[in-house]
Amino acid sequence: MTKTLRPKTALVHGGTMRSQFGETSEALFLTSGYVYETMEAAVKRFTNEEPGFIYSRFANPTIRMFEERMTLLEGAGDARATATGMAAVTAALLCCLKSGDHVLSSQALFGSCRFVIEELLPRYGITSTLVDGRDLKAWKAAIRPNTKIVFLESPSNPTLEIIDVRAVADIAHSVGALLMVDNVFATPILQRPLELGADIVVYSATKHIDGQGRCLGGVILSSKEWIADNLHNFMRQTGPSISPFNAWVMLKSLETLDLRVREHSRNAEAVANFLETHPKIARVLYPTLASHPQHKLAMSQMNMGGGIVAFDVAGGQAGTFRFANALKVIKISNNLGDSKSLITHPATTTHQRLTEEQRAEVGINAGTVRLSVGLEDVQDLIEDLNAALIHA
Ligand SMILES: Cc1ncc(COP(=O)(O)O)c(C=O)c1O
Repeated sequence: MTKTLRPKTALVHGGTMRSQFGETSEALFLTSGYVYETMEAAVKRFTNEEPGFIYSRFANPTIRMFEERMTLLEGAGDARATATGMAAVTAALLCCLKSGDHVLSSQALFGSCRFVIEELLPRYGITSTLVDGRDLKAWKAAIRPNTKIVFLESPSNPTLEIIDVRAVADIAHSVGALLMVDNVFATPILQRPLELGADIVVYSATKHIDGQGRCLGGVILSSKEWIADNLHNFMRQTGPSISPFNAWVMLKSLETLDLRVREHSRNAEAVANFLETHPKIARVLYPTLASHPQHKLAMSQMNMGGGIVAFDVAGGQAGTFRFANALKVIKISNNLGDSKSLITHPATTTHQRLTEEQRAEVGINAGTVRLSVGLEDVQDLIEDLNAALIHA
């Protein structure tokens, strides 16, 4: 398969390796190991004299199909799939950092990413600084000669802050650092960080890539050289690999990713428009709304707004809990990117580790909720929200 496939075709056919049975649907190779005809063949496999699979901790045909399809979709040089999105973030950082290095990151991050950068890396002598990602002066002031990785999430979880990826890539490159983007909220369909200057892209495939809340997974994408020189051996020796079964689910889900993400976005925009007119809603954050503080920047980087809406319910935490408890179609869950609409209260769940002051810095208030808009009929979602808001 050539690299000239358009994205929607690559999502359906990219990376397919057919077995001798000529199956239409990609095969699930649920195997840990591989057999060799002879002992000599095993030696040649281990010394790279002959191509082939050795052990599924390093490579497996189903996982490879998923990685190659993602590589084509993202326009990257290569990819590695991991057990979870957090395994992707942690492996991508640890594989190329060492004691004495510095990481510069935006402060509006998913809670576990913030833990890895703020608490875990410093235990190993890798210092970090977190800045307000919207403030380019703050990025410039905090970059150091020993900064090796600049990390950001845009739109951010949960308050949909937008970061100027091109400008931050230039700041990173000015000291020879690489820009790593967590592109979970935008998905590869709506935002292409490598084209905006990023060097490494990471995903929680658990979210829109699976899209039906079944499997955990992650993906790291970059140039062929960066993967070969940094990630390949790290993954092989430390083993944060995805299971072939989960990779197969992700691979098959990619076939409908474009359709699903666009429908999630259309539904989310309709929900955001409805919420903006509701008297019990104090604030709505959604990238395509003209009221979003970085609406213009968002639209210069993204094709559509994505499936997540953040909003503040009047009446603080108590009013918000009464509202969420009254929802019937929309379910309470901290996952996102599912075909089912899911709502969560970040201050008491995904971002409860932060202090109240840190939460305020990234715009998480007592009444803030994050709604992952699903694939239901949007009128049912709007009616559900409208009925539940009576209780706020
Ligand atoms: C922005 C972002 N990054 C990373 C992760 C971690 O992904 P996972 O739950 O697959 O480890 C999540 C999910 O919770 C997320 O929302």
